[in-house]
Amino acid sequence: MKFSVSLGNAENAVADGLVFFAFEGDSQKFAALDRKTGGLVSQAFKKKEFTGKKDESLFIRTSFSKILLVGLGKKAVFDANKMRNHCAGAFSGLKSMDCKTIAFECAHHESSVEFGRVCAEACVLGDYSFEKYKTPDKDDKKKTVDNISIFVPSDAAGVKKAVDEAGAVSACTNYCRELDNEPGNKATPSFLADQAKILAKTHKLKLRVLEKKELQKLGLNAFLSVSAGSSQPPKLIVLEWSPSNACDTVAVVGKGITFDSGGISLKPPNDMDKMKFDKSGACAVFGIMRAASELRLPVHVIGVIAATENMPSGSASKPGDLIKAYSGKTIEILNTDAEGRLALADAIAYVEKHYRPSAIIDLATLTGACVIALGDCASGLLSNNDELAERLKHAGDYSGERVWRLPLWDEYGEKIKSDFADLKNTGDGTSGTITAGMFLKNFVGEHTPWAHLDIAGTAWVT
Ligand code: BES
Ligand code: ZN
Ligand code: ZN
Repeated sequence: MKFSVSLGNAENAVADGLVFFAFEGDSQKFAALDRKTGGLVSQAFKKKEFTGKKDESLFIRTSFSKILLVGLGKKAVFDANKMRNHCAGAFSGLKSMDCKTIAFECAHHESSVEFGRVCAEACVLGDYSFEKYKTPDKDDKKKTVDNISIFVPSDAAGVKKAVDEAGAVSACTNYCRELDNEPGNKATPSFLADQAKILAKTHKLKLRVLEKKELQKLGLNAFLSVSAGSSQPPKLIVLEWSPSNACDTVAVVGKGITFDSGGISLKPPNDMDKMKFDKSGACAVFGIMRAASELRLPVHVIGVIAATENMPSGSASKPGDLIKAYSGKTIEILNTDAEGRLALADAIAYVEKHYRPSAIIDLATLTGACVIALGDCASGLLSNNDELAERLKHAGDYSGERVWRLPLWDEYGEKIKSDFADLKNTGDGTSGTITAGMFLKNFVGEHTPWAHLDIAGTAWVT
């Protein structure tokens, strides 16, 4: 899909589909389009068939194009996140009508750059679907959109830059989704290591894969305890983007449980299939590493993926087991289904020790409690550093992938003290997202800014 940005209005565009956005009562804005459609637009406004109310739409089929007017509601402050959804709706609608070329007219003159960015995101993200395991219907021709043109009143070059960047980042998001959708029988830890090899080669990243033997030698026993029941060998994958102009070093760490059965603390069968998505944090790291390279970020980015299955078997970890993590702290495993924090504890300690990053951000589908608390509307954010937390909050608002911070007060730490070891891997059944975060905090140096994103609720919908 190619993007172009032009100055002017979309009614003169040569495209299969034309999209216009209207605020409530915006009828005069469409004088030129009204002339082109022989008065159909003004008639619709007059008959109140379309008035610009939120989510209203008017579809006009003309001899030259399919025209879609989308209502935005009351004109207030431009809300880029809502605009992205409106653009996505229009894109999907016109794509389903087999439009190969679509022209969008900028909705808000003060925010052309913002409009261009969210419009491009909407088209690229909205174009994605996971089809690879479906046999294509012979009679059903695949519908594809080839060209998107965006019409703005000014700064076409600035908008084009934003569009290109948004398109590139969104393609990385689709890459992340494509990996995440792969099922457990395909996407094993070895599969992820192979994907890392391909990415490293195509995107000039350094790669190191730590195999089971090396992990044993180093003593990443918390991570290894998760993989103990699986016949698939674990992999600790370390990808690195290190440009010569790097001004800072940041580590991103992803939970890569390629299937979470719960282990000996087996999960109930309902919805267990969803646990192939327990590698969402890892897939996000793949996407981040690809984006860092494509945008040539002037930052040294280290991507660590703790990839393993969590399975029950005769060799699996058992409730009550005591282990010594890579950092030296001891852990009592009370529930083998609380495995993500074990894998992450070692991955975090490893990256901190060997790379000394100035910030560590981990991403993990860590707790069901986070799904209960925030649903799919926000990821949980837990951090030992206010500035990093604030920056992530800002990034979440900007991208529409919101985060909501939860506290890490000392009192919560009491809940994960063990009678037999330094820590236990479950709390008392309350404040589950926080106690999981509190557990991870134990594996980060006191002075290293760290943030944990619990994406358990948001991974399924993105
Ligand atoms: N992968 C799950 C968390 C999860 C649950 C993600 C539902 C998405 C949807 C995690 O490994 C897990 O099982 N956590 C347990 C922890 C508990 C045993 C302390 C949970 O949240 O129930
Ligand atoms: Zn689990
Ligand atoms: Zn899990």
